[in-house]
Amino acid sequence: MDLKQKLSELQQKSKGLTAPGILQLVEKEFGKRLTMASSLGEEDQVLTDMVAKVAPTIEIFTLDTGRLHQETYDLLAKNQKRYKLNFKVYFPDPKAVEEMVRTKGINLFYESIDNRKLCCGVRKVEPLKRALANVDAWITGLRRAQAVTRGSIEVFEWDEDHQKIKINPLAYWSLDEVRKYIKDNNVEVNELHAKGFVSIGCAPCTRAVKPGEDIRAGRWWWEQPEQKECGLHNNPRRPAPPKK
Ligand code: ADX
Ligand code: SF4
Repeated sequence: MDLKQKLSELQQKSKGLTAPGILQLVEKEFGKRLTMASSLGEEDQVLTDMVAKVAPTIEIFTLDTGRLHQETYDLLAKNQKRYKLNFKVYFPDPKAVEEMVRTKGINLFYESIDNRKLCCGVRKVEPLKRALANVDAWITGLRRAQAVTRGSIEVFEWDEDHQKIKINPLAYWSLDEVRKYIKDNNVEVNELHAKGFVSIGCAPCTRAVKPGEDIRAGRWWWEQPEQKECGLHNNPRRPAPPKK
């Protein structure tokens, strides 16, 4: 079946389902042609716990950019011990990283937005293409409330960049709901959260935020909010719909 047709079918079938129900549905619908992207963020930890409980054949992959925090690797190691799931790690192409670092410098991302996008391209976007090569659909931990660029995402949507179905089971969840699930289910989280980090990406591009600051203020803090996407979730740049 055509994937776009499948998408509208799923939008119908999933009406009224909670996040675990959505995971069960897509596990059944896609089988091996499905994967989940985890950056080991709080949302991804919630989804990992749900996958383990209700849809354990879903594979979970992490893009290891080579610049992640030690605490992030520690959390991945904890997941690998706690959950009997298929965890995959993708690395960037070493030749592309070597060439980039040789010509632009090791910390190129601080110098310009073009350099930052180049680095995200080499370390995240190209490996993501490989991670998605053999699937029809992928699951992410995206939420509407995370950023101005994410204000109108849907639970099921079309990923124009990759020509796949993208599934965001937590699209309508608030950060409080995410944290309640974590507490109620004893889910492990990145130790950096206790040190003031909220949204966590690569070490050189993430810092702690102050109480009351925007949750993505610590990501690429030298850039404007509407530029803060690394290319994993590009399309299209959608602001929040006007409030009624
Ligand atoms: S980012 O685009 O700004 O880096 P963010 O950190 O908010 O994204 O994460 C949003 C979702 O993108 C995560 O829930 C996860 O599904 C996916 N994602 C982000 N970074 C990675 C990564 N390094 N490996 C795998 N998935 C990732
Ligand atoms: Fe490179 Fe920073 Fe992007 Fe990580 S977040 S891939 S270090 S520019």
